[in-house]
Amino acid sequence: MGHPPRQIGLQSSPASADAPAAGGEQRGLAARRCAWQVLQAVAAGAYADGALERELGRVNLSPQDRALATELAYGAIRQRRCLDAWLDQLGKVPAERQPPKLRWLLHLGLYQLLHSGRIPASAAVSTTVELAKRGGLGRLAPVANGLLRAFLRCQEAGESLTRLDAPGVDAAERLGLRHSLPDWLARDLLQWLPPQGADAFGAACNTKPAIDLRVNRRCTTPEALQRALAAAGVQAVPVAGVPSALTLQGRSGDLRQLPGYDQGQWCVQDRTAQRIAPLLDPKPGERILDACAAPGGKSTHLAELIDDQGEVLALDRAEARLRRVDRNAERLGLHCIRTACGDAATLAARQPELLGQFDRILLDAPCSGLGTLARHADARWRLDPAAIDGLVVLQRQLLDGLWPLLKPGGRLVYATCTVHPRENGELVEAFCAERREATLQGRWQSWPGDLDGGGDGFFAAVLERVPD
Ligand SMILES: C[S@@+](CC[C@H](N)C(=O)[O-])C[C@H]1O[C@@H](n2cnc3c(N)ncnc32)[C@H](O)[C@@H]1O
Repeated sequence: MGHPPRQIGLQSSPASADAPAAGGEQRGLAARRCAWQVLQAVAAGAYADGALERELGRVNLSPQDRALATELAYGAIRQRRCLDAWLDQLGKVPAERQPPKLRWLLHLGLYQLLHSGRIPASAAVSTTVELAKRGGLGRLAPVANGLLRAFLRCQEAGESLTRLDAPGVDAAERLGLRHSLPDWLARDLLQWLPPQGADAFGAACNTKPAIDLRVNRRCTTPEALQRALAAAGVQAVPVAGVPSALTLQGRSGDLRQLPGYDQGQWCVQDRTAQRIAPLLDPKPGERILDACAAPGGKSTHLAELIDDQGEVLALDRAEARLRRVDRNAERLGLHCIRTACGDAATLAARQPELLGQFDRILLDAPCSGLGTLARHADARWRLDPAAIDGLVVLQRQLLDGLWPLLKPGGRLVYATCTVHPRENGELVEAFCAERREATLQGRWQSWPGDLDGGGDGFFAAVLERVPD
């Protein structure tokens, strides 16, 4: 893993990067401080999204600085393992034994040197040292300076992580180090995929996810929306293989300010997620159950596909998230969605009058989320592989509990945003093997980055109930 050499002090720095701002503080310092706080909060157990939102709420940053804080915080969290490996290599004290505040500050500085091609090395080093001084690590500022400069010398010499080529390092550790993945996941990936596929998965997990829109075809077309966005200075392009998707290019700012938002002409939905609802092949007038519905991305898609004629029962056990389904449906002008709070696994037992009543059922099951690691920067460090056992039990209970609600001749789609075979193919195969009236019509696994170079990883299986 060689890096192009970067020489400190030789690059000309854009004014926004490291010149003093009005008020005396170096430009970009507040954004980096914000990112540093997020790294510390996440290390203390906070979720990355929530921690970032909180920190951004505390400071008044320009849109550019908000984007910088977001990029640095999420990037450094994703690359935690690689950054620690560099600290182990460069420092006298291993990363794990560094004072945590210093460790996360060094991550921030190193991340800029390793991964942010547009930040001059001089700005990355000087802002890190300045933050150390202002952030209660004054005594350690020379350590930060020395370590980052040592890294730059390695970069100039074309050196990479020595651990990658060390004797005794196996393929899983190498994959984990290359793409900053935990060992258990790297090991699993090499079981599921050929080496190039595992590498592509790792790379996709560290790529900033695209912002994809789903066009509400009840009130506009992708072409018309594309034109309206272009007129507002936002470039959006179609996604091959996903007819209602447009993906935004470049910075788009506050999405709610974009044309068509208030009129319900579009919603944000990942391109792969947009392929799930059509698998149900829903028709106007049908009765549809979306069993794990919140926040409603697929419920609203189903309602659009049936032209708001029929019924979509959007069930979820998380009441607060269910309110988002109502809000989304309202903005998109959809009236056929009815929300209900409750446990989908026991719905049939609680309401036996619903047995055999639904033409279509979508089970977008709670899962390990291994297909969305790029979107959730901290998820790979949070996930306990032992928790997969519990998820598989829950997924099976949901499938068993929902199946009797399907009409004979009806269709159920089981979907997850994970790539773990135990939560996906193995689960539906075991289910169908035990149910003579269930036929598996088809299944697909999409890997992160598979769809026109982007998209989350999703699994879907189409099951039909044999007519009586
Ligand atoms: C993958 S998310 C659903 C995303 C949603 N389908 C969409 O497209 O916006 C899974 C959902 O399952 C819900 N859930 C988990 N266990 C459940 C249960 N036993 N009954 C109902 N909902 C459940 C969670 O609250 C969560 O909202």
